[in-house]
Amino acid sequence: MSLSETSAGVSDRVDGPPASLRVKLGRLELPNPIMVASGTFGYGREMTDFVPVGRLGAVVPKTITPLPRRGNHPWRTVETTGGLLNSIGLDNDGVEAFLEKQLPWLAACGAPVVVSIAGGNAEEFVGLASRLDGVPGIAAVELNISCPNVSHGVDLASDPEMCRRVVAGVREATSLPVLAKLSPNVTSIVAIARAAADGGADAVTLVNTCLGIVVDWRRRRTMLGNGMGGLSGPAIKPIALRCVYQVAQAVDVPIVGVGGIATLDDVMEFLVTGASAVQIGTASFTDPPTAGRLLDQLPAALAEAGVAAATDLVGSLIPPGATAAAPSPR
Ligand SMILES: Cc1cc2nc3c(=O)[nH]c(=O)nc-3n(C[C@H](O)[C@H](O)[C@H](O)COP(=O)(O)O)c2cc1C
Repeated sequence: MSLSETSAGVSDRVDGPPASLRVKLGRLELPNPIMVASGTFGYGREMTDFVPVGRLGAVVPKTITPLPRRGNHPWRTVETTGGLLNSIGLDNDGVEAFLEKQLPWLAACGAPVVVSIAGGNAEEFVGLASRLDGVPGIAAVELNISCPNVSHGVDLASDPEMCRRVVAGVREATSLPVLAKLSPNVTSIVAIARAAADGGADAVTLVNTCLGIVVDWRRRRTMLGNGMGGLSGPAIKPIALRCVYQVAQAVDVPIVGVGGIATLDDVMEFLVTGASAVQIGTASFTDPPTAGRLLDQLPAALAEAGVAAATDLVGSLIPPGATAAAPSPR
């Protein structure tokens, strides 16, 4: 096996990924299940000193919108117990700037590029999807219908019929595989995931951030300029796992798990619970090499689990109360 070294000393294999790591999310095939989450990895280029970006399962760059957005007032991030609260507000330069300035590097980096898109309504999602249709270098789109930091940002992910309609509209507008990124801030994640699957989603990404507030009682103010924000990091891992579990039990759709993943044990927990792939988010801020390290560690963990392929683990969790052996994986 030929190896090169990045400046961080992470091995950068150049002879292709092992077949045992390959995963399928509907029509989207990835070389391995370790993706990086939108909004936590810049546009990829910024991370090359830390992570062998081209070897990742996929890169999901910061969400883009039809037009540039300045985002929310500061403060936009604040650390809290076990996590990070953010209210960035989808600060981005818009789709045209993305295509001109960011996509060329991403398309050449070697990893599949899943472009995260957001609109203010279903029509804007559909417009963005058709703009991206046929653009070389894009492997799939991820619909950010769950951003809690823009006004009404979460509505499309909290109403099943609206969710189904936006996914179906996008599905019609593009030949690209479609991932629907859902919110944990709903009464029934199963109902929303089912609606996304009915609309034609190739996979659902579970989950975006959990709504929260951090307060400075001495100033009688919220810490974030926008008041509320989205909680991410280790604090939300059990919530994300619960969402993955519920959807895996009830809906026949591939799942991408995201929320608080920082260690290989975290990755394995999500796979066993029902995720076919995972995304690393806040951990890339606290420890930038995380995604590359987890990818390097994965083969040994699969061997320890006694499986030949990552897909063999997916959904192999023994249901609570069951006495029988683990059910056969999905
Ligand atoms: C600072 C910050 C910015 C984010 N921006 C986006 C975004 O633009 N689009 C999106 O879909 N998710 C965004 N997210 C959510 C993450 O992609 C991820 O779903 C969430 O943080 C949970 O994963 P984690 O706990 O591993 O960070 C953002 C998260 C953080 C912390």
